[in-house]
Amino acid sequence: MNSAKLKIDDKEFELPVIEGSEGEKAIDISRLRNDTGYITSDTGYKSTGSTRSAITFLDGENGILRYRGYPIEQLAEKSTFLEVAYLLIYGELPTSKELEDFTSGISRHTLIHEDMKKFYEGYPAKAHPMGILASMISALSTFYPDAQKADLTPDEVDVTVKRLIAKSATIAAWSFKKSQGHPIMYPQNRLSYCANFLHMMFALPTEEYEVNETVEKALDTLLILHADHEQNCSASTVRMAGSSHASLYAAISSGVCALWGPLHGGANQEVIEMLEQIRQNGGDVKKMVEKAKDKKSGFRLMGFGHRVYKNFDPRAKIIKKACDDVLEEFGIDDPLLDIAKSLEEVAVSDDYFLERKLYPNVDFYSGILYRAIGIPTEMFTVMFALGRLPGWIAQWKEMRDNNEPISRPRQLYVGHTERDYVSLDKR
Ligand code: SDX
Repeated sequence: MNSAKLKIDDKEFELPVIEGSEGEKAIDISRLRNDTGYITSDTGYKSTGSTRSAITFLDGENGILRYRGYPIEQLAEKSTFLEVAYLLIYGELPTSKELEDFTSGISRHTLIHEDMKKFYEGYPAKAHPMGILASMISALSTFYPDAQKADLTPDEVDVTVKRLIAKSATIAAWSFKKSQGHPIMYPQNRLSYCANFLHMMFALPTEEYEVNETVEKALDTLLILHADHEQNCSASTVRMAGSSHASLYAAISSGVCALWGPLHGGANQEVIEMLEQIRQNGGDVKKMVEKAKDKKSGFRLMGFGHRVYKNFDPRAKIIKKACDDVLEEFGIDDPLLDIAKSLEEVAVSDDYFLERKLYPNVDFYSGILYRAIGIPTEMFTVMFALGRLPGWIAQWKEMRDNNEPISRPRQLYVGHTERDYVSLDKR
């Protein structure tokens, strides 16, 4: 079972079959065009593998997610975001010294150049923070031009990794301060990554701010759950951009832009807006489900469905439980959580959703937890980006370490065949 046979007209071709470490199988078509003159066609890459990766394993049918072999449920319960970031990027769980060096290295890079503060003055008051994050990450490349070199040393990669993880949190928090008209809060290197982010987001120079440990832990868990997800739209964008040897800053900035879309990371903001709309319409979840089933409506149940998961998204299960725990601890009675649970009950028992194997994904409950810990709706996708940053970096690093070629897909041309130019007076 190590080759597949392809018959075209009266000729037969053998294509190698390759197998992954979890028994998944693929037909290697890298020589298909050379040998047959044919290419494959797979708009949206629903059946096409773009690479061989050792970072994250998903089993969509059984709702399994593992980072470097470790189940997401164990990492969410026992690890921390920066430890998971190290695992994804460098391949192994760090020793305590490695984790200490990584963590303190990130703490030392939390400041952004004072000239970058001026950029915030140019954005409109209600600028979407994803637009700020994407442009500011790209702008970091102008302050660290060495990162553009094609042959970066491991130390140059490592410092860029730390700069990106550290400064992205500062950039994100300052974009929120900008939207509130509040003074920015400088990072405090004595704080943990999450505590420092919460401090930069919510502290004010006029009063004491104490980071709540439950909020800090909930945020850390959310970031772990978002840290990587194999070849999703934004990770593939990072790999594609990075394959031209554009800098890591440029590749990550392109990933932020891809994540912004409502079909991808932008869904978490859309879910809350959808739940708010249901609440304002009297909480009629059945009506919203019927609208999502009606193709003519153009409406989709945001936070439902997934390209890979044809079962429950394991992250959604963990976030749903965290919602219950955090809201109970804070005595919050968020009607949107009740609406979300009712929506889930109605949808997962409806044939339309069952036939299409549409279940809640990571975005369905995450917004409710972000709200509970005080993150404003317009920052939800930014939080997704901060969580996904180590995964994007790991994907970029694997692509560059494996010397993968520049990504340049083929196409099937379906436009006009050759025709002569028609002068203006004859059109
Ligand atoms: C993320 O890839 C990743 O790993 C992404 C992510 C990550 O961690 O990186 O997990 C994060 O992006 C999660 C997904 C967030 N997006 C949403 O919640 C938006 C709503 N969901 C969909 O738009 C959709 O389910 C996608 C985009 C997530 C997946 O789309 P696919 O795989 O291209 O599936 P499809 O559009 O071909 O849909 C298959 C069928 C269609 O109906 P038919 O044409 O077969 O009759 O299911 C229907 C769709 O109309 N459908 C939905 C639906 N999602 C799919 N119908 C109603 N509501 C929905 N949410």
